[in-house]
Parts: sequence; structure tokens; C-alpha cells
Amino acid sequence: MTDEATARRLWNDAADAYHHFIETGLDYYRTELHGPALLDACGDVRGLRVLDLGCGQGWFSRQLAGAGGHVTGIDWSTGLIEHARRLEEARHFQAQPSSTTHGGVTYDVLDAADLAARFAPGTFDLVTACMSLMDMPHPASVLAAAARLAPRLVFSIPNPVTDAPHRVWKRDADGHKLALELDRYFEATPTVLQWNMQRLLHHFTTIQYRYTLEQWSRMLEDANLTIARLREPRPTPSAIAALPDLADAARLPYVLIIDARTPPR
Ligand SMILES: C[S@@+](CC[C@H](N)C(=O)[O-])C[C@H]1O[C@@H](n2cnc3c(N)ncnc32)[C@H](O)[C@@H]1O
Repeated sequence: MTDEATARRLWNDAADAYHHFIETGLDYYRTELHGPALLDACGDVRGLRVLDLGCGQGWFSRQLAGAGGHVTGIDWSTGLIEHARRLEEARHFQAQPSSTTHGGVTYDVLDAADLAARFAPGTFDLVTACMSLMDMPHPASVLAAAARLAPRLVFSIPNPVTDAPHRVWKRDADGHKLALELDRYFEATPTVLQWNMQRLLHHFTTIQYRYTLEQWSRMLEDANLTIARLREPRPTPSAIAALPDLADAARLPYVLIIDARTPPR
């Protein structure tokens, strides 16, 4: 169940439901928490050549383009890239002819394992990955390839501290959350993830490859990348007031954002 071909097929099967989840705004952890924080961590992207890894249906690629980046989005799911291309066409159609603030996005169906064969070293100024590296079967080699393509990599992942295999909210008699019980942190194994929230068009499964904080740190070291900045974003009080579900993410770190750099030449 956890081999690479299955992982890719599952993302293709999920394409329509995942697309719907994002475009309807129902993925509010993205719109209110990790998406803005990742864009903020990228800084000023105007005029930069950006490679967005595991771009899915292009939500973050479009954020980067909206901020002025010239973006290439790659993903191994044909279904998700088809959605991304359609959305990009619509974005251009809607753009004012006089608008110069938007960069553009081009998309490729590509396994991130094949980055080195597809792009020459130094092709980009920045590589990004919005919640995708932990879904890739070999993140260490992807990080190493990314480090040859650009001097900087900014990515978000579920925070390994709270993303443990055993993760259960302990509640009082009225159902209020008391504390999150976590265990088996060091069990870094592929996990079949059930996407079964009611908000979804249909339920689906994907495969996630869990790693501990130390393993991520070692993968970056081995790729010759140094952590320049690390962020654990929290929702704002107004976001929590509008979407009470987000309150958990103000108690515990759900997201980890890393800005890593190659050594100066
Ligand atoms: C949780 S989704 C995130 C998608 C997108 N970045 C977003 O923010 O919506 C993970 C993505 O990683 C992609 N992915 C997983 N392994 C990949 C690989 N080896 N090469 C390219 N894309 C991959 C999946 O197809 C999926 O689109």
C-alpha cells in the first residue's frame, strides 16, 4: 500500500476532491494559518524565478505569482496539474490588461525525484514546497536536488512535534478539549492518511512519510542547506473568532516553516 506508484495514484484519485476542498475555501488552516505564513517567510518574491515543488492544483504557486514571482509548479499528479492549468488560464483571462503586479505560472507533470534531469543547476532563485515534502517518498534526495537549483528553499510541513502517530485529544465530560495526548514520536514510518472530514467532496486517502525534527534537520544538513529561519505560525484572534476550529493551532504548533539556504559562494 505504501509504494511510490500507489502514492502517486492516490493523489490522482484525490485530485477532484482536493481541488474542491481548496477552491471552496474550506481548507481554512491553509487560508488562515500556513499559507500566509509561508508566503511571508518567502519575503519579496517580485521578479524571482520560483520553483514550487508538489504544487498540487497550484494554490501556493498562484500566491507566489500574485506577489510578483515567475513561477514553475511541478507535481507528479496529472489530475492536479490539469486543475492548476485551468485555474491559471482563468486567472489570465480575468487579469486586467494593464496589470503588471502578477507574475505567471507554468506547470509541469514531474516526479520531484527527477528534478536534476529536468532543470539545470541555478535555474531558480527560490524553491518552495507548501505542505508537500512530507508526501514525497524520498525527501532527502529532493532537498539535495533543490539545493542545486536555487540558493534558497522555503517550505512548510505538518509540525513533527504534534504530528505523532498517536494523537488523541483528551476531553472533559462536556467534550471540551483538555490536552492533546501524543506518543510514538520516534516511529517515523509511512502512514496511510484518511481524509475523512465532512467538508470534503468525497473522502480519500494519501500516503505520508513521517520524519522527526532531527531527521528533517539531518536531511537539510546532508543537502548542504542551513536553516536561516524557522517559524511555527499561529492563527490570529480574529481568525479564531471567525473559525473556532482554529483554536487548537493557537495552543499547539501544528505547522513548521523552514527557510533554508545554501552556503554563500
Ligand atoms: C498535501 S498536497 C499539497 C499540494 C500543494 N502544494 C498545496 O499546497 O495545495 C501534496 C502534493 O505533493 C505531491 N507530491 C507527492 N509526491 C510527489 C513527488 N514525488 N513529485 C511531485 N509531487 C509530489 C502530491 O501529488 C500533492 O499534490
